[in-house]
Amino acid sequence: FNIAKFQEDLIGWFTAEQRDLPWRQDKDPYKVWVSEIMLQQTRVDTVIPYFNNFISKFPTIEHLADADEEDVLKAWEGLGYYSRARNLQHAVREVRDEYGGIVPETKDEVSKLRGVGPYTTGAILSIAYGVPEPAVDGNVMRVLSRILFVWEDIAKPKTRKLFDELVYAIISHENPSFFNQGLMELGALICTPKSPACLLCPVQEHCRAFEEGTQKELPVKTSK
Ligand code: ADE
Repeated sequence: FNIAKFQEDLIGWFTAEQRDLPWRQDKDPYKVWVSEIMLQQTRVDTVIPYFNNFISKFPTIEHLADADEEDVLKAWEGLGYYSRARNLQHAVREVRDEYGGIVPETKDEVSKLRGVGPYTTGAILSIAYGVPEPAVDGNVMRVLSRILFVWEDIAKPKTRKLFDELVYAIISHENPSFFNQGLMELGALICTPKSPACLLCPVQEHCRAFEEGTQKELPVKTSK
C-alpha cells in the first residue's frame, strides 16, 4: 500500500471534485462544529438550509452563547435530536467562559466539550486547524474497510478505535483536512453502501476490496 500515492490521489480528487457546501466556505471552527453536529444524524441536502439559517441567526460562538435556548431550538425545529442543539449551546458557553470564545486546538480540550464525541473532535481539529486527527464515522469506516480490507464488525464500539489507528498510520500531515474530507466525500459520492461506483473511483488502484471483488461484502455490519 503506497501511502504517499494514496494521499495524493485522494486529496487531488477532493480538491477537484468536492461539492460546494456552505460549511466549506471557510475554516471557521464554529461553522465546522455546527455543520458536523447537524450532519451526524441528518443528510447533507436536509442540513444545507438549516445550516445557512442557523449561521445567519447565530453567526458566531458569542451570538449562540448569548441566545435564548428557545430561539436555538426554534432554529433546530425539523432537524430532530434536539439534545444536539441544547448540547451545542451548552458547549459554546463553555468555550466562551473557559477559552475566551476560541475553540481550543487540542484533542483533550475539544473532546471534553458537551456533545462533542471522537468523530466531531477529529473533524473540528483536522478541518479547522489542520491537526492530523482521524474523523471516523460510519461512512469513513465503510470506505476504509474496503480500501484496507478490514473485516471487523463496524457495529462493535471497539471497531471505530481500530479505524482511528489505521487513519493515524495513513493520514496526510500536509493536508489532514482534505484527507479526512476526501474520505467523507468518497463515501458520499463514490464508495456508497449498495453499489459503489468503483470504475469512477480515484483510489481504485489502492483498494484491496476492488482487487478481490468483495466491495459489496464490506463493511461487515451485524444488525445492532
Ligand atoms: N458528513 C459528515 N461531515 C461532512 C462534511 N464535512 N461534508 C459533507 N458531508 C459530511
